[in-house]
Amino acid sequence: MTERIVLAYSGGLDTSVAIGWIGEATGAEVIAVAVDVGQGGESLETIRQRALGCGAVEAYVADASDEFANEYCMPTLKANALYQGHYPLVSAISRPVIVKHLVKAAREFGATTVAHGCTGKGNDQVRFEVGIQTLGPDLKCIAPVRDLALTRDKAIAFAEEKGLPIETTKKNPYSIDQNVWGRAVETGYLEDIWNAPTKDIYDYTATPEFPPAPDEVTISFEAGVPVAIDGVKVTPLQAIKELNRRAGAQGVGRIDVVEDRLVGIKSREIYEAPGAMALITAHKHLEDITVEREQARFKATVGQRWSELVYDGQWFSPLKRSLDAFIEDTQRYVTGDIRMVLHGGQAIVNGRRSETSLYDFDLATYDTGDTFDQSMARGFIELWGMSAKVASGRDIRVNGK
Ligand code: ARG
Repeated sequence: MTERIVLAYSGGLDTSVAIGWIGEATGAEVIAVAVDVGQGGESLETIRQRALGCGAVEAYVADASDEFANEYCMPTLKANALYQGHYPLVSAISRPVIVKHLVKAAREFGATTVAHGCTGKGNDQVRFEVGIQTLGPDLKCIAPVRDLALTRDKAIAFAEEKGLPIETTKKNPYSIDQNVWGRAVETGYLEDIWNAPTKDIYDYTATPEFPPAPDEVTISFEAGVPVAIDGVKVTPLQAIKELNRRAGAQGVGRIDVVEDRLVGIKSREIYEAPGAMALITAHKHLEDITVEREQARFKATVGQRWSELVYDGQWFSPLKRSLDAFIEDTQRYVTGDIRMVLHGGQAIVNGRRSETSLYDFDLATYDTGDTFDQSMARGFIELWGMSAKVASGRDIRVNGK
């Protein structure tokens, strides 16, 4: 029987050419797998037809946008995950859901190998292959761009020679990856890290310099998940989409960073994630009133570690799973409403309310009638500083200072 390979297929030039390229290089039959993670653009049916037109023996298409929002974006929100303090893991969280579908398709169509279009320099190759090793340990992986010398020039020549139904003239100098959680743009003139991005880079966000009138929005959460916007019930996918639109119109969520890739390279990245950044901001502010202090402090550390694991392609790892359990436990009381103003590139919270809040007006107030007994503070401070005071006494005794 002819060997079969499932290919992570985007519908773009490189993966379209990869179908025939892999076929010629390996003699295998190629099954194209296209997964909708809310990236917009062409319909799955158009992509399916193109895959078949480029020589795929089968095309597997999956609308995974709700699955992606529920099972990948929501955990990222609960973790307030920002890799290196900036990046909401847009591409990093889409790879594991694509991997799930690749492995499913491999099983359905009897494939022995999984192929993806990543280069050898990025994180995505790691995320795909580590994911596949974990979910389908018997499956092999190949990357035609990395392993079969499929360069951009060769891809264009191949497409023209074979008359593939794909445009080869459109010259986009950037490498772009997008889904409903956000958009990542890299390469081209952005590789000079002093160059400011030009307007044409952006798609999810409008220029924040000339914003429309301020947009006030109320987001309601239940156990850390957005359930309503301005009182209208929403699914996680709808919440992200609605905030992509409204926060995007205000230029919220533009990110320009140099980040540390897993492969040891520092790379310049432009991200836009209006919905994700608005949601993370709102969610964090709701946690500020509903999560107990020590739990909240520890959670920040856990969230950072979680972000690193996910960035580094460890979505299906045991440690990530354990941290998920911790994070989930912290979300028990993260229920309530956050009101925020979206304007001029910023999402600023100006109101919060929750039935499960730990904010106690009577303890906090400086007005008369507060229930906080200020006389307790003296003794507390005395004991709190005791250990450092004893140590400093020793310093003076031993060193004279
Ligand atoms: N550097 C980001 C990450 O590793 C974005 C990668 C985007 N991928 C792409 N093919 N442009 O998550």
